[in-house]
Amino acid sequence: MTIILGIESSCDETAAALVQDDRTILAHALTGQEERHRPFGGVVPEIAARAHAEYAVPMVEQVLQEANIKPDDIDAVAATAGPGLIGGVMVGLVTGKALAMAWNKTLIAVNHLEGHALSPRLADESVEFPYLLLLVSGGHSQLLRVNGVGDYDRLATTIDDAAGEAFDKSAKILGLGFPGGPAVEQAAKLGHDNVDLPRPLLGAKEPHFSFAGLKSAVVRAHESGKYKPEDIAASFQTAVVDCLRDRIEYSLKIIDPIDTLVVAGGVASNGAIRAMLTDLAIRYDMRFTAPPPWLCTDNAAMIAWAGIERFAAGLTDTLDFKARPRWPLDSEAQAARGAGVKA
Ligand code: KG4
Ligand code: ZN
Repeated sequence: MTIILGIESSCDETAAALVQDDRTILAHALTGQEERHRPFGGVVPEIAARAHAEYAVPMVEQVLQEANIKPDDIDAVAATAGPGLIGGVMVGLVTGKALAMAWNKTLIAVNHLEGHALSPRLADESVEFPYLLLLVSGGHSQLLRVNGVGDYDRLATTIDDAAGEAFDKSAKILGLGFPGGPAVEQAAKLGHDNVDLPRPLLGAKEPHFSFAGLKSAVVRAHESGKYKPEDIAASFQTAVVDCLRDRIEYSLKIIDPIDTLVVAGGVASNGAIRAMLTDLAIRYDMRFTAPPPWLCTDNAAMIAWAGIERFAAGLTDTLDFKARPRWPLDSEAQAARGAGVKA
């Protein structure tokens, strides 16, 4: 039995988890920092890094205690090494390195996106490679063909804002609060889709995403004073759903047939997006699966699980692994696992 400690600190959640290779999550702990960032309407990197430094070790202590696990029982330490806000990434990675050194364990430097990409396999043992992954979070909007551990083809990315960023910015414009995704979803439930908003890149002959124009249209609709924030939120959410559907359908046309569709990342907890994906999968005779919402937003269980998968594949790292603020998830980038910032 392999047990791995995972540490996550790439954005505004400090998290630790202990996961076993039979998919048992022995314990997971998470401290969010919403209260600290709320006054600024977004995540402040310096505040985030300081909070991670405060919480990283307590999160690890908490999971060890909850699971009643001793360092001796752990096989490896997996820590997010990027991409993300570099101060926070460095805090988590250096914590992982220090523990690996003190306990004489192997270090696994995990790409945060790989954590999201493999999370459907932690949630559901029947998810097998390959699968088409819609990865939608605060920092990323990508479509990936997940061929195997460490083997990803990036089919599409955003040419401007990420989907989550568009939710967060729209929430801020509409005065709905922070974090924006859940706030927009709640407001949308109370509103009507009656505002005419654009669908950037709809029908385009390349699979990429674009959300900046949609956000600007939200600003204009709001400033016109003609619409209720709830109606703009509902219309915005429908526009995002339409864009995502169109881009996935275009990708399905240009890639080899694939029978599983999965979604991951914080935006994947959105009910309207999940409903659209469920419907799309039925129409394309695909299987659709999504991790539960808590595994979609940032957490350390997905990092520990990526560690389990990498450990099993013999993909471990050394203590000189550098933190990487930018680190695309595709096979070429995986090959370049050396570059980065020393942590
Ligand atoms: O994966 P995640 O926790 O952090 C990143 O790696 O970015 O994703 C956070 C993003 C934020 O932009 C947040 O507003 C969005 O996910 N999000 C949602 C929902 N819950 C979180 N977006 C839309 N609907 C939601 N229910
Ligand atoms: Zn994330």
